[in-house]
Amino acid sequence: MAYLCAVIALNNITFEFGGRVLYKNASWHIHPNERIGLIGLNGTGKSTLLRVIMGEYTIAEGNISRQNGIKLGFFNQDLLSFETEDSIKNVALSAFDKALHYRDEIEKLLKIVETDYSDENLHKLSEMQHEFEVLGGYEMEHKTEELLEGLGFSTAELDKPFKQFSGGWRMRVMLAKLILQHPDLLMLDEPTNHLDLPSIIWLEEYLKTYDGTIIVVSHDRYFLDRLVNKIVEVASEKITIYSGNYTFYMEEKEQRDEIQLNQFVNQQQQIRQTQRTIDRFKAKASKASMAKSKEKMLEKMEKVEAPTAAAAMVNFEFRIGTKPGRLISSLENISKRYGDKVILENSNAEILNGDKIALIGANGLGKSTVLRMIANSEPYEGKIQIGYNVIPSFYAQHQLESLNLTHTMVEELQYHAPKRTENEIRSVLGCFLFTGDEVFKKIRVLSGGEKARIALAKTILSDTNYLMLDEPTNHLDYQSVNILTQALQNYEGSYIVVSHDRQFIRETANKIWWIEEHQLKEYPGTYDEWQEWMTNRRIKEKALEKDAKPSPTPEKVVAKEQPKNDNAIELRKTKQQFEQCEQEVAKLEQAKNDQENLLALEENIKDKVKFVKLTQDYEKVKEQLANKQKEYEKLFERIMELES
Ligand SMILES: Nc1ncnc2c1ncn2[C@@H]1O[C@H](COP(=O)(O)OP(=O)(O)OP(=O)(O)O)[C@@H](O)[C@H]1O
Ligand SMILES: [Mg+2]
Repeated sequence: MAYLCAVIALNNITFEFGGRVLYKNASWHIHPNERIGLIGLNGTGKSTLLRVIMGEYTIAEGNISRQNGIKLGFFNQDLLSFETEDSIKNVALSAFDKALHYRDEIEKLLKIVETDYSDENLHKLSEMQHEFEVLGGYEMEHKTEELLEGLGFSTAELDKPFKQFSGGWRMRVMLAKLILQHPDLLMLDEPTNHLDLPSIIWLEEYLKTYDGTIIVVSHDRYFLDRLVNKIVEVASEKITIYSGNYTFYMEEKEQRDEIQLNQFVNQQQQIRQTQRTIDRFKAKASKASMAKSKEKMLEKMEKVEAPTAAAAMVNFEFRIGTKPGRLISSLENISKRYGDKVILENSNAEILNGDKIALIGANGLGKSTVLRMIANSEPYEGKIQIGYNVIPSFYAQHQLESLNLTHTMVEELQYHAPKRTENEIRSVLGCFLFTGDEVFKKIRVLSGGEKARIALAKTILSDTNYLMLDEPTNHLDYQSVNILTQALQNYEGSYIVVSHDRQFIRETANKIWWIEEHQLKEYPGTYDEWQEWMTNRRIKEKALEKDAKPSPTPEKVVAKEQPKNDNAIELRKTKQQFEQCEQEVAKLEQAKNDQENLLALEENIKDKVKFVKLTQDYEKVKEQLANKQKEYEKLFERIMELES
C-alpha cells in the first residue's frame, strides 16, 4: 500500500563509488506532502542519495520507481556556477517560463486585436488569458518579490544584475527560483549554509505551507525541528526512518544505540575469546583444523559496529613546533568603516599566549571583518602587529575552495606540513575521522563536510601556533564539531574564533571578545561566566570600563635557518631515526599487549562506554604499529642505500 502511494520508491538499492559501498539493500518510500529531514554524518552519502533520486547516478542493484510525470527540484552547490547579466528578479521569475511565454503572446495578440478584432482572435486571446491565469501568471510577480524579499533582498536590489551579487546571495536567488517552479518533490541540500538567522526563520515558515514533498539535508537541528515531521538517517550503508522531528529522533536513537552498544560489547568479547583459542591452537597439529574453522567463522561473522556517537574521540595532541613569546598580537588604535557604517573606532586589544578567544555577537556587527583585519587580509586604519615567533594560520569558508582538487587527502596535508611524517599526518586524519584507504581519496570527490574537515586539519597541522578561525563549524556534523572541539581543547597554541554555535564557544573559549560601541571588549573568562557577568551588568546598568591595555613593542619574527644536508649527515640522521623507530616499534608492541590485557578485564567489559574507547585505542595502536613497522622498513632500506 505504502508502495502505491509513494511519489518515489527506492527498493533495495545498492550504490557504490568505485568499490566503496554507500548504500546496500537500502529502501525508502517517499510520500506526498511529507516534510523530511535527511541527516547523517559527513560523507555518509546524503548529497549522493539526492542525485540518485534525481537519476543522475546509476544504481548497482535494486530499483527506483517514480510516479508518472512527477516534477523534481534539487537545490545544491552546483547552482553556484550559474551566471547571467539579467536582474535577480528576472532570474527568479524565469521559474514561470510557460506563463512568461503566454504573457509575450498575449501582448502580441493585444496589438493585433487593436486593428483586427475578429472572433477568432478574440477567442484565442481569451483562451490564452485563461491559460495565463491557470499558470499563476497574475500572481507570479508578486510571489517572486515576496520570496526574494523574504530571503533578505531589499526592494531596490531586485532590479540589480545577478552577477553583481556574491556567491551566498546568488544562491538565495537560485533557491527562490527553484521554490517558485513548485516541484512535487523539493530537495534542498544544506540550504541554511547560505542564509542568516532571519532568513532561516522566514524560510521555515514559508516551507511549512508548501504544497508538495520536501526533503531537506541539514546539520542544523533547530531548523529541522521546526520544519520536518520525519527524519531519515543515512548510516552504515542503510536508510533508517524515524517518524518524528529531530528531538524525537534523538530520543529514539538513544534507545536504539544502547541496544547496539550492548550487542557490540558482547560480540567483541566473543571475537577476542575465539581469537585467543585460535592463537593457542594454531601451532598444534592435532588442533589446527579446529583453529582454522574457527578462523573462518570469525571471518564470516556479521560484525556489529559501535554506535557512532560513542566512537568519536580525539587522541592526538596538537603540539606546536615553535614556542611564541608572551604577546601573540596587538591591536592599536584600530578603526574600520564601510562607507557610513562604522565597525571599529580607535579600538585596542591584545592577544596573549594561551588565549583561546571567541569573538561573538549579532550578525552584521563586523565580526568576520575584524577577524580578517587581524589576519591581515582586510584593510584598516591603525596598527596590528604579531609577536615574536608567532606563526599564524587563518581559516574561513573560502579555504574550502583553495584546496587542491587533484591532491589526495594525505598529499594535501603533506604539502602544507612538510615537516610532519606520514604517520603524524595519518594520525591527524584519523582524528578527523578519515581512516584506512579513505586517506587516499582525491579532494575532488569529497563531500562538503569532508572538505571542511580537511581544510581544518590543514590549518591546525601547518606548523602554526596561532589560529584565526571564522565559523569553523559550518558544514560539520555534530560528531565533527565534537572532534574540532576536542582538537582545540588539546591545542597548545592560541586562537581567536568567530562562531554562532554557543555550545562550541562554551567548550573552546577561555576569553570572550565582543564589539560594543565600536570598541573591542574583552571578558577574561568562559562563555557561561561572561553571560552571568553580562546579566549582572545589565541589572546594575553599569557601563563597562574599557579593558584595552597598551601593548608592548613586538619583536620581529626571525626566520629559522635550515642546516645543510650531505650524505654523511643524512646517514647519521637516518641511523638515529632508525634507532628511535626501533624503540618506538617495541613500545607500540608493548602497548598493544597492554591494551589486549585491558580489554580482557572484567571491570572494563562491564563499563560499556569505556570498553568502546578501549577497543578504539586498541585498533589505533594496531594501526600505529603497522605504520611504524613500515617506517622502520623504509629507514632500513634508506640506510642500505646510503651505505652502498
Ligand atoms: N564522484 C565520486 N567518486 C568517488 N567518491 C565520491 C564521489 N562523490 C562523492 N564521493 C564520496 O562519497 C561519499 C558521500 O558523499 P556525499 O557528498 O554524498 O556525502 P554527504 O552525506 O552529503 O556529506 P556532507 O554532510 O559532508 O555533505 C563521500 O565519502 C565522498 O567522498
Ligand atoms: Mg552533502
